Amino acid sequence: MWLGIDIGTGGTRALLADGQGRVVAAHTAPHEEMTMHQPLWAEQRPENWWDAAAIAIRGVLAAAGVAGSAVRGIGLSGQMHGLVILDSNREVIRPSLIWCDQRSQKQVDWVNKKVGKARVLECIANPVLTGFTLPKLLWVRDNEPAAYERVRQVLLPKDYVRLRLTGEFATEVSDASGTALFDVVNRRWSFELADAVGVSRDWLPACYESSEITGRITPEAAALTGLAAGTPVVGGGGDQAASAVGNGIVAPGIVSCTLGTSGVVFAHMEQVRYDPAGRVHTFCHAVRDKWHVMGVTQGAGLSLQWFRNQLAPGAEYSALMAEAATAPVGSQGLYWLPYLMGERTPHLDPTARGGWIGLTNSHRRAELIRSLIEGVSYSQKDCLDIVESLGVPVASVRASGGGANSPAWRQILADVFNRPVVTLASHEGSALGAALLAMVGTGEYADVPEVCGAVIREDGRVEPKAEAVAVYATGHRVYQGLYPAIKAVLG
Ligand code: XUL
Repeated sequence: MWLGIDIGTGGTRALLADGQGRVVAAHTAPHEEMTMHQPLWAEQRPENWWDAAAIAIRGVLAAAGVAGSAVRGIGLSGQMHGLVILDSNREVIRPSLIWCDQRSQKQVDWVNKKVGKARVLECIANPVLTGFTLPKLLWVRDNEPAAYERVRQVLLPKDYVRLRLTGEFATEVSDASGTALFDVVNRRWSFELADAVGVSRDWLPACYESSEITGRITPEAAALTGLAAGTPVVGGGGDQAASAVGNGIVAPGIVSCTLGTSGVVFAHMEQVRYDPAGRVHTFCHAVRDKWHVMGVTQGAGLSLQWFRNQLAPGAEYSALMAEAATAPVGSQGLYWLPYLMGERTPHLDPTARGGWIGLTNSHRRAELIRSLIEGVSYSQKDCLDIVESLGVPVASVRASGGGANSPAWRQILADVFNRPVVTLASHEGSALGAALLAMVGTGEYADVPEVCGAVIREDGRVEPKAEAVAVYATGHRVYQGLYPAIKAVLG
């Protein structure tokens, strides 16, 4: 059996899969809510991720009724871009600024001025964005100098859990790609950029390909988790790359749309290509020597979560979706801008604001909810359009993540994308992908495309409906006009 562990935002999920990729058991341990001391800030405690990982691992072993010795290899996946800083005693210096933290615009501007935007793009194949790790580190430098003084290691969220499991400072290419310190084209740290911005090379962990073994379970971690000491841990992937492996997005033509807290359109690339405007990310894939491109909606599932927390406390998501399905296509002209945490694709604007536009007295709560789903789907269409404009083929879209569990949302996606939306037999994404990477790393399969070909099956398909496609084509144009109009007023 192989174990995949996904350190998400809401919780850590541990999943055991057999050699055919069948899920034997899974267990999720929730995280503390992110703390948001100021607008645009978002923090979590790395120690909480580790505690959740230990609970999830013990939980999945118990659910499967197996001993740790049954696990032949482990893969890690995790929320990307988060900053974990450690001192010389390997202690966490301050809470992590996580992926959706947007406080670092000043530091982004500083890097662009110091290094030059064009040179940055040459070094890392992407622009530096507020969400990425480097400007977060520089924010600590500028605002918490005493903390910065103590920095000896910089890690990503899942790699902190790796440290606790194996004692090793290590990462892998897909997650490293989102730090803004990684030479994505050549699959190694960009020491040139690190040197230019004063980040010590020694702070950066060893970097592996995603299916390579990076270390083994220590006796201390074994005692805490029930795993066997010596079990190998492979690199794994950033949650998006790992989810792509779990969804078989490892060849040209198949694109995924993952609707979690954020929403991501993801496509495999044989050759590295990047958007000169930087609106989509070009990162290393978890497939050896391949890349991927992805566009990100910051507030996808987050929109629905916000709605539930503020306006429908305690409601089940499935009940909210059922209510949304009673509203007509297009929500009677009501539009939702999902920019609750700024926006990445296509606006690259951390200060973008969300909201409903077009309310009338006749709108019911059903339209409010449906418009949320439609707005998030329009934002994902923005991502898809840019991916296609890079010459990446899009035959069908595989939907996954919590949002894809809803048949209503899948139909809306198919209609907004004007593409068939496919679901897979397994609804697992990142944790399964991490387990599949462990299978490759321990020699059960030769490579990632082979394991995906052997274990991943499509089981559902929603076709776009012409009438809705027409309504949404118009709706998308209106939606695209709203951001610039509102920006002009709100700034
Ligand atoms: C990807 C991204 C999110 C986070 C959280 O670039 O920011 O997907 O990894 O899930």
